[in-house]
Amino acid sequence: MNFLKKSAAVILLAFVLSCVFGGFNIPNDTDDSLATIYSTDGRILRMSENDAQQYLKDGWEKDFKNVMTTVWKTDGSSKSILKSQVGMYINSGWSADKSDVTVVMTDKDGNEKEIFKDNAELYKEKGWRIKTESVPKEDKGKNIKAVALTFDDGPNKQTTNRLLDILEENNVKATFFVLGDRAEKDAETLKRIYNDKMEIGSHTYSHKQLTKMSAENIKNEVDKTNNAIYKAIGQNPTLIRPPYGSYNENVKSLSGVPIVLWSVDTLDWKSKNADAIYKEVTESVKDGSVLLFHDIYSTSVDAVERIIPELKNRGYEMVTVSELAEIKGKEMKSGGVYTNF
Ligand code: NI
Repeated sequence: MNFLKKSAAVILLAFVLSCVFGGFNIPNDTDDSLATIYSTDGRILRMSENDAQQYLKDGWEKDFKNVMTTVWKTDGSSKSILKSQVGMYINSGWSADKSDVTVVMTDKDGNEKEIFKDNAELYKEKGWRIKTESVPKEDKGKNIKAVALTFDDGPNKQTTNRLLDILEENNVKATFFVLGDRAEKDAETLKRIYNDKMEIGSHTYSHKQLTKMSAENIKNEVDKTNNAIYKAIGQNPTLIRPPYGSYNENVKSLSGVPIVLWSVDTLDWKSKNADAIYKEVTESVKDGSVLLFHDIYSTSVDAVERIIPELKNRGYEMVTVSELAEIKGKEMKSGGVYTNF
């Protein structure tokens, strides 16, 4: 795999550098002045503690465990993968949420067991039944092809308003994960998002990495954002998307609303190129996708203007995240993590 080659190259580079500068030690782990840091796309760097601080603010991690996550299949197989690979795995039938591939079954004595879906028939033959028989999503959303366009990091007076014009003209709904401090500074644009019947989610107050914060500080980020949004529109956000998609048990229990990540990353912040964004979406989109954009870049708005008619041509409806969950018959729970529907 290409990714493996890339990360191997970086590790090799780190090794060579440590040989040259560190006197042939592999990597010089006894040197406390150097920090090893990891990115969710598999890069590994060694640098001074001081230099590392900036990287950590940009979403790099000191603990390799934090750039990894687990995906599952209904047959019970699981894999530990880089967080940046989640979308790719979801597109080939894996799930980032274990509860998607399991069912809770109960026997006549009331004993409960969580088992992988492929084993459900076997248990039924032994007299177990599915405890919460929810409507299979294949049945509910069968005839409706739909996706959710989602926009992070705003609002921004210029670009967000132009985007709203485009969404309105095309009669398309979207979801905005807004930052509390920007919502405070630009309550007018947030009001328009709300009045245009878009869904509003929290992207926290100041875009810090929540997994590096104490429970108290996480709660503070969540509450401050809710207050800023409530002040502008008289409603609390219905969803949350933690910055960098980073979450842990504290984030889950303190969010108060469903956690929504994404299955198609347009990488618009990186390319700032409408053609590249268009290509990313049109190649990766599928029924139930959650697409990640940032409404603070004019290039992203340019791309969306072209993407909407193309998705319509392919028969997709563009709806808010909560509407997409509803169409696909999936109930979202507070603290649950959702990447697609
Ligand atoms: Ni963000």
